[in-house]
Amino acid sequence: MLRRVLRCEAMSETVRSLMQAGGAAARDASALENDLGFLWDFWYPAVRSTTVSGQQLVTAMLLEVPLVLGRTSEGKAFAMRDSCPHRGIPLSHGRFDGKAVECSYHGWRFEACSGQCVEIPSLTSQDKLKVERIFAGHYPCGERDGYIWVYMNAAGSRLPETIPETPKLSVFSEKYRITHLACELPSHVDQGIIGLMDPAHGPFVHQSWYWRSRRSIHEKEKKFEPIPHGFRMSPHTPSSNSAPYRMLQKYTGAPVTTTIDFVLPNMRTEEIRSGKLWFSSRATVTPVRRDLCRIDFVAAWNLFLPVWIFRMFAERFLRQDQKTMILQAEGLKHNPRLMLIDDADRPAKWYFGLKANLLESRRTGGAMEHPMDGPVSLHWRS
Ligand code: FES
Ligand SMILES: [Fe+2]
Repeated sequence: MLRRVLRCEAMSETVRSLMQAGGAAARDASALENDLGFLWDFWYPAVRSTTVSGQQLVTAMLLEVPLVLGRTSEGKAFAMRDSCPHRGIPLSHGRFDGKAVECSYHGWRFEACSGQCVEIPSLTSQDKLKVERIFAGHYPCGERDGYIWVYMNAAGSRLPETIPETPKLSVFSEKYRITHLACELPSHVDQGIIGLMDPAHGPFVHQSWYWRSRRSIHEKEKKFEPIPHGFRMSPHTPSSNSAPYRMLQKYTGAPVTTTIDFVLPNMRTEEIRSGKLWFSSRATVTPVRRDLCRIDFVAAWNLFLPVWIFRMFAERFLRQDQKTMILQAEGLKHNPRLMLIDDADRPAKWYFGLKANLLESRRTGGAMEHPMDGPVSLHWRS
């Protein structure tokens, strides 16, 4: 796993510059500037499922909220705010018996899944305090595709009546291989996301004989269409300058099609299919702090591709992106003005537009407007 934590400049300036560049839709998003630019009320992956076992408590941070996670004796994952409601001691330093978390300071005990206080040891029979009315902060928690997901509802807001299901990676056969990778970027989540959807950096950042080279740059036309909360690069035959795709087509004799979706708050999925063979992946960029985000990448496939070979290439890819983002964070310390250009940065503009329109619809209670009018073709060289 690639881990690197670096400081970078506060995001508000970054977001402001991008919004200046991002056009009218983004300008309306002044709300973005008043907070940290995080999208609340969505599922985010907190930790890998395998890291939480027995009666161990583990910590994580999402959207600058410190969390303590664990698993009850029935195996159900839970996530609480890592802060005792009495005097703020991190609950992760307390004890957990498979049912309740006990604070290390005065021994208050909280039921793990509901956060409800079940005991305050200092109370006497004279005390009238209603223990059961005290709650430690807690969040809905789900497990899927090897991650523990936490539904980050905004402080002080009510949970919606029905919480959407946790995201699920598409798979297309019973048997398949699956692998997970993660990589921290010293960036605000917005930079991580627009980096993820940026088509023009490939030949420069990911140069290699088996993937792209500068000389292979050529003009491309890609069709995009709006989908709820996001956009889709319509099913297409992938780039002819990538050796892996050429090999796949040769093997199956069937056309290779790729569909790439981006949906709020942070998710890029890609499905590649050729005959009976398929490859499916998902990358999420999760805000940890205003100056740190994490890419969680999960891929599954039924191709004859050993996991270790795939990981070797994927790690290299992520490291190249990480290196670039570390450099970018250096540059952003000095609050430069930034640009988004057509057509290569249009997906980034849609991202800022989607984000702004979602916040606006939440504010007004009205339907969310989509920043795209309909299907559109974009052109760039990469
Ligand atoms: S601070 Fe947790 S019980 Fe007092
Ligand atoms: Fe990249």
